[in-house]
Amino acid sequence: MFGNTTIGIDLGTANILVYSKSKGIILNEPSVVAMDVNTKSVLAIGQEAKEMIGKTPTNIVAVRPLKDGVIADFDVTAGLLREIMRRIITISGNSIRKPNVVVCTPTGATSVERRAISDAVQSMGAKSVTLIEEPVAAAIGAELPVDEPIANVIVDIGGGTSEIAIISYGGIVSSNSVRTGGDHMDEEIIQYIRKNYNLLVGEATAERIKFELGYAPIPHPEKTMDVRGRDLLTGLPKTLTLTSTEIQKALEETLQRILEAIRNTLENCPPELSGDIVDRGIVLTGGGSLIQGFQEWLVQEIDVPVHMAPSPLESVAIGTGMSLEYIDKLAKPVK
Ligand SMILES: Nc1ncnc2c1ncn2[C@@H]1O[C@H](COP(=O)(O)OP(=O)(O)OP(=O)(O)O)[C@@H](O)[C@H]1O
Ligand SMILES: [Mg+2]
Repeated sequence: MFGNTTIGIDLGTANILVYSKSKGIILNEPSVVAMDVNTKSVLAIGQEAKEMIGKTPTNIVAVRPLKDGVIADFDVTAGLLREIMRRIITISGNSIRKPNVVVCTPTGATSVERRAISDAVQSMGAKSVTLIEEPVAAAIGAELPVDEPIANVIVDIGGGTSEIAIISYGGIVSSNSVRTGGDHMDEEIIQYIRKNYNLLVGEATAERIKFELGYAPIPHPEKTMDVRGRDLLTGLPKTLTLTSTEIQKALEETLQRILEAIRNTLENCPPELSGDIVDRGIVLTGGGSLIQGFQEWLVQEIDVPVHMAPSPLESVAIGTGMSLEYIDKLAKPVK
């Protein structure tokens, strides 16, 4: 039976978003679940659970069940999705019960990983589940004319994966997926501080440092920030002043890996489409692309125009929800 609501889900490593065509983004929460260790019951999800990371008593754990864009813990992801279903029914009413769900998967995901995503979504009470490639969703959400025979280049830098794809005539012409992104930048910051100052900082602190002091490798007016953590030598709390120049260095390797993947994708572009890229450039989506100076640095490195998508953190969810229209359009037989 048709007429059921269709929703798009961006089941991201860092954030989970739900989009419905009539209401837009109806849910946007960090992909975190707080659980009782003994009973395995879900105590909190989303922002509330994220705030518990690194601060919970021993009987509670706050976990991120998705890693590198795919499911690391199936049961916890299924629990997260069921709670999300309950919330969207509360927000949008019973009409959204048993929705047709479109969900995106990273291009690098294996068939087993795709199957797990599909099964987890099915278990939340979906009537049907359709999988689409994440960069195609990102491009649709970024308002690119993906169904035209021109090169649309999308660079989506998420928490766990960075995906680069050239899309033309509704499909991926060339793509690259690297399992690195914003989360890895946080880890690099933790390692840097530990190695250079013997200070241990938590994930949330590392993310705040990245927002404040994270820069792509370009000249910038230096900033500083006071950071608190645990001194590994004395075991006592300690405050440290960090500079943006040192954090910029700590992030450089991760950013270079992403740049290399972008270069490789552009090099594999069919020559007939290369001209489009020179004219139209590339479009950035995903939270990782918001690192300060990133856009400017890419222009300098790859020498084509670089644009930011209208809502970089929401593009994938919007595109996932809208994708069925495109799929229908492309599936129509040519008369
Ligand atoms: N202003 C910002 N500056 C730097 N990084 C940011 C900013 N805003 C968000 N991020 C980072 O972006 C990442 C989340 O981005 P996004 O929501 O696109 O990921 P995701 O879709 O959940 O992950 P994936 O696509 O890899 O599964 C996090 O690592 C977050 O710290
Ligand atoms: Mg994403």
